[in-house]
Amino acid sequence: MTELNIRPISGLLGAEVGGLDPDQIDEGVAAQLRKALHDHLVLALPGLDPSLQEFRAIAALFGTVDPVPYLDPADPDVPEVISLDSRYQVKADLWHTDATFLEQPPAVALLHMLECPAHGGDTMFIDCHAVYDSLSPAMQEFLLTLTCVHDDARGDKKAEHPVVRAHPDTGRPALFVNKQFSRRIPQLSRPESQMVLSYLFRWQEQVQFSTRWRWSPGDVVMWDERTTLHVMVNDTEGRRELHRVSVLGDKPTAFSPDRIAETFGLPKTASSGFYGTGGYDF
Ligand SMILES: [Fe+2]
Repeated sequence: MTELNIRPISGLLGAEVGGLDPDQIDEGVAAQLRKALHDHLVLALPGLDPSLQEFRAIAALFGTVDPVPYLDPADPDVPEVISLDSRYQVKADLWHTDATFLEQPPAVALLHMLECPAHGGDTMFIDCHAVYDSLSPAMQEFLLTLTCVHDDARGDKKAEHPVVRAHPDTGRPALFVNKQFSRRIPQLSRPESQMVLSYLFRWQEQVQFSTRWRWSPGDVVMWDERTTLHVMVNDTEGRRELHRVSVLGDKPTAFSPDRIAETFGLPKTASSGFYGTGGYDF
């Protein structure tokens, strides 16, 4: 059986995956990839350079591949894969999770870099499990009682999600707000909502929760959209051209300490206890 070579690239999240042949993905390889994504949240496959069909097939290992109706497909034969070109698109240089204004935001997203500058324009990711776990127990308990309204800034699409969501596969809690789309916590007054959200945005956007990928043409990077934030480092005017595909997610469910105890056999506490409280001292 093919054994993938999985090498973490940071302390908390992100791993480089070697040994994947897009032509030879059997159930054993698929299971290794799914486990690696659970364990590391972000996977980079340097120089994989898949065809459009191979790229789509890798995404399909994680669920239903989801077309993006408002963006152009790279090829009409593979309509779920879209083209992104820095000459025509706004740079995604605010920390965000994709499309949280949808009732069912994506579960997993994948990028294939076709062309990029020799340096600059890296992508950074943040582990939102670790962010939640770094908060004090009192703050964690408080956040479990809240939801947040997300919108797309044009007012076309709007959705309300729990502030702390449970990962559907692992049950682990993750903070689920982002500066780009999260607008208001309806259980709080307007000034309270603004204060809490601005605190959470500032807290989560810290380098110790992050990892960073320096792109080369041909690289594929995939990430768990349910439990991470990402951003393009806006430090270059060089052209970037990519393919992107994503997998349909579930409707986010609130983290429940009772449920995690029953379903996943984990301790019945507000925190998942996976990361501890390392965030207190800064
Ligand atoms: Fe994005």
